[in-house]
Amino acid sequence: MSFKRVGVLTSGGDAPGMNAAIRAVVRTSLSANLEVMGIFRGFAGLLNEELKVFDHRSVSNIISRGGTILKTARCPEFLEEEAQKRAVDIIKKYGIDGLVLIGGNGTYRGGIALSKKWNVPCIGVPGTIDNDINGTDATIGADTAVNTALDAIDKIRDTVTSMERIFVVEVMGRDSGFIAMQVGLAGGAEDILIPERRQDITRICHDMVEGNLRGKISWIVVVAEGAGSAGDVARQITEITSLETRVAVLGHIQRGGSPTARDRNLATVLGSQAVDLLMKGETSKAVGIVSGKINVVDLEAAVSKKEVETDSFYQLVKKLT
Ligand code: F6P
Repeated sequence: MSFKRVGVLTSGGDAPGMNAAIRAVVRTSLSANLEVMGIFRGFAGLLNEELKVFDHRSVSNIISRGGTILKTARCPEFLEEEAQKRAVDIIKKYGIDGLVLIGGNGTYRGGIALSKKWNVPCIGVPGTIDNDINGTDATIGADTAVNTALDAIDKIRDTVTSMERIFVVEVMGRDSGFIAMQVGLAGGAEDILIPERRQDITRICHDMVEGNLRGKISWIVVVAEGAGSAGDVARQITEITSLETRVAVLGHIQRGGSPTARDRNLATVLGSQAVDLLMKGETSKAVGIVSGKINVVDLEAAVSKKEVETDSFYQLVKKLT
């Protein structure tokens, strides 16, 4: 069978840079004389037959836009064989020979099912702000999210310093402390709570009380959502220290905005690579970049737990407070 038509979808939480990846998939396919279909609303849209033939102009002027023009959705139904079987029938009906799946863990799991159980060629492109995918140093959207959160933390620092307060700032990341660590270091946070490390809140409180005695009164504590809620942490701090606290939950603003150059270029390189892999007959693979080089791993390896070294990072943050 010769390879003629690529399908592309975005699934799970949107991430800045997904549009740049879609553009790269579409234009790389067209330049190789392949046809491309955009599949709207992820696996859910696939099951509803929300597909459209894309041409060169379908992806004009999207490289700088956050979100995803294909829309996205979470689709728990896709865990069921019945839904997967229906999806395979639709993929065949539209003559799609292979899929590029842009998203995070859930998206990749859908790709594993389609490729391993149903023989649909699938290549994963890592699109998530959480940076929790194996086989790549960075996922598309993580750099933008870190910079968005950093901008907010810099602003919070102005009021923290002026009013000499303790602020607890909650950032996203699901089970990953990546955003918290990056903004914590870049924003000069006094402490960071992340799911990868067990942290003793009483030790943080002790540092605060000691700091207060020395005249260090302003504190920013960054909490990754996977390590607890900012509200709970702030309450505990006040209970233990009797010091006043304020809370900021940055939430979904971290998912929006124009992607950084780093995210656009990562998305462009990986989107294009994904099409090349499909044309070479590869399947059930995820593309990434490790130490500046393209890296291709099995989708299963990509979703296995990502081990990150946090100790030296954390020690550095503490050394500088
Ligand atoms: O996976 C991306 C992410 O933004 C996580 O950081 C967060 O936990 C989750 O999605 C939020 O999902 P939703 O937008 O469905 O509330």
